[in-house]
Amino acid sequence: MESNSGKRDQWGSKFGFIMAAAGSAIGLGNVWRFPYITGKYGGGALVVIYLLFVIFIGTSVMLAELSIGRKARLDSVGSFKKLGGGAWPLVGWLGFFCAFVILSYYSVITGWTVAYMFKSLGGLMEQAAVSGGAADAFVAFVSDPVLTILCLMVVMASVVGVAYRGISGGIEKSCKVLMPALFVIILILIVRSVTLPGAEAGLRFYLLPDFSKVSAEGILAAVGQGFYSLSLGMGIMITYGSYLGSHEDMPKLTRTIVLLDTSVAFMAGLVIFPAVFAFGIDAGSGPGLTFVTLPAVFAQMPMGAIFSFAFFALLFIAAFTSCISLFEVVVTFAVDELHWNRAKSALAMGAAITLLGVPSALSVGGHIPQVFGKDFLDALDFITNNAIMPIGGIFVSIFVGWIWTKGALDEISNRGELKFKFYKAWLWICRLIAPVCITAVFITGLKW
Ligand code: PHE
Repeated sequence: MESNSGKRDQWGSKFGFIMAAAGSAIGLGNVWRFPYITGKYGGGALVVIYLLFVIFIGTSVMLAELSIGRKARLDSVGSFKKLGGGAWPLVGWLGFFCAFVILSYYSVITGWTVAYMFKSLGGLMEQAAVSGGAADAFVAFVSDPVLTILCLMVVMASVVGVAYRGISGGIEKSCKVLMPALFVIILILIVRSVTLPGAEAGLRFYLLPDFSKVSAEGILAAVGQGFYSLSLGMGIMITYGSYLGSHEDMPKLTRTIVLLDTSVAFMAGLVIFPAVFAFGIDAGSGPGLTFVTLPAVFAQMPMGAIFSFAFFALLFIAAFTSCISLFEVVVTFAVDELHWNRAKSALAMGAAITLLGVPSALSVGGHIPQVFGKDFLDALDFITNNAIMPIGGIFVSIFVGWIWTKGALDEISNRGELKFKFYKAWLWICRLIAPVCITAVFITGLKW
């Protein structure tokens, strides 16, 4: 455990850091948004656009965030105070706020995945086997206030338990077990899915490039998804970077994280589309795809309960490791800025976030009034993802591109120890290309 007076905790190994950062990046978005956007906007053609974005822009912004955190060795607010001063800490505040709010509803959905793991083995398959049964089961579940709030509390208690044990003893230890498990599960599910009779139609829909479907809207969706998927713009990588050893090769680490995140997004599509097409069901996206369509698909497979359990376990791991990273932004803030010890920070912040999660949990079942025509959960999701995250990303890029440029270069090259080959490209991406692209996503995303 870490205390205020003691030495700052550090990741115990490169592998541990990579698993934690990839755990943050790999989340619900990889499973229910990437495949959907790809299928809808041009298959393989869109994958290429997505790849270009994450390789050039995503990697650059992630590198910027890691360097800020590692140099300052503080939370997101403290880092901007120390390196930028003036109004810059506001960017850190945005990150803190965003992480706090996102976690409050992300943990609600993570709770659903826990319930669905158990439901898979306990009768969900029988319900989902009849037409419309999976949808009825889902509505009945989200309308149950006791159960959904209980699931939220179980998830938040586990997140607090991990954070309480600190960086190397909590986050790193759990992610080192969970992330390899996620890879094994997804591989098993891919094999199951692509060997179903009729799977090729799904593969064709998912991957054959169809340039006629590529549109400006699709490109922006891909760019926004890339940004969201890498967990950028909200202080997560600043926070995780603040615990990173000074001799680690950040460009290399970043490449590995991006590669892992993209691979899992790509693989999720190999699970979903072949299965959905094999049974002639309309895929759709979001919670509807994962909690309604897929149970109906699993219900038609031999040993469907086992595969359904495995799928929700996969979703749980993806979501839970993202929750952990969101929570660490908040906990590190409390430790560094409020000078609370880790135990108090984890418990108090965990309780506050759980409380904020309650209206989200209730909103999906229609127990509380909507906010301007959206469920409370969707409203929070909209504000954080479409407004705050992009603003955070734009300012992080501008900060390293124009203000703290020499400092960032120094940090990324480990004070001259490493050769940072792509310096020029990185610099102009942060100066111009990233702010322009993210602004475009931001403006188009503001439609309520
Ligand atoms: N990157 C996660 C995903 O793809 C989502 C996320 C965003 C998690 C921001 C934490 C912070 O689902």
